Amino acid sequence: MTKRIAVLASGRGSNFQAVIEAIAARRIPATCVALITDNPKAYALERARKADIPVIVLDYASFPSREAYESALLAAMQQQKADLFVLAGYMRILGTAIVQAFPRKIVNIHPALLPSFTGLHAQRQAVAYGVKVAGCTVHFVDENLDCGPIILQKCVPVLRDDDEDSLAGRILTEEHTCYPEAIRLFCEDRLEITGRIVRIH
Ligand code: GAR
Repeated sequence: MTKRIAVLASGRGSNFQAVIEAIAARRIPATCVALITDNPKAYALERARKADIPVIVLDYASFPSREAYESALLAAMQQQKADLFVLAGYMRILGTAIVQAFPRKIVNIHPALLPSFTGLHAQRQAVAYGVKVAGCTVHFVDENLDCGPIILQKCVPVLRDDDEDSLAGRILTEEHTCYPEAIRLFCEDRLEITGRIVRIH
């Protein structure tokens, strides 16, 4: 059965584009019902328009408080009747009310091998720490930052002369296959979650 997915993105949206293309190529059995963004300047909006995906812009700066923004976001998410919410470079922490409203129905991609290097600038953290492998992680979202059950991870080498940008580029290439693959597994009902362990069928 075709699932309904909604994407949340704050910026460039290259992962969103990878999902759009995987849906178009029927690699993901889903319809993308909306792009929701907190940033009216996000390039992701262009990508949505080109793909005829409805957009919802909740300009964070126009809300009087974080609470007001979050309640508008919760309402917008509820309206989608989505089976899955995909965070694709959504650069805000989702509040508890939203996470609890959609248990195991929100996924995120993080540009590090979790549980290492949570939060912002994960690639910069990896270079500064001197790790020899880095990568990306697709995980379910829970109440803690970058912490929910892990669905897939892909790794890349960290090369001698890498800086944050070169490493980020290498990781991003992996993100673009890893995220559609994880979403496909979800949409094919192939993920079984026990505690924080995700088994793939
Ligand atoms: C990606 O590298 C993604 O992993 C990262 O932001 C970038 C968004 O790129 N997300 C986070 O750091 C979330 N904590 P994109 O807009 O081109 O998909």
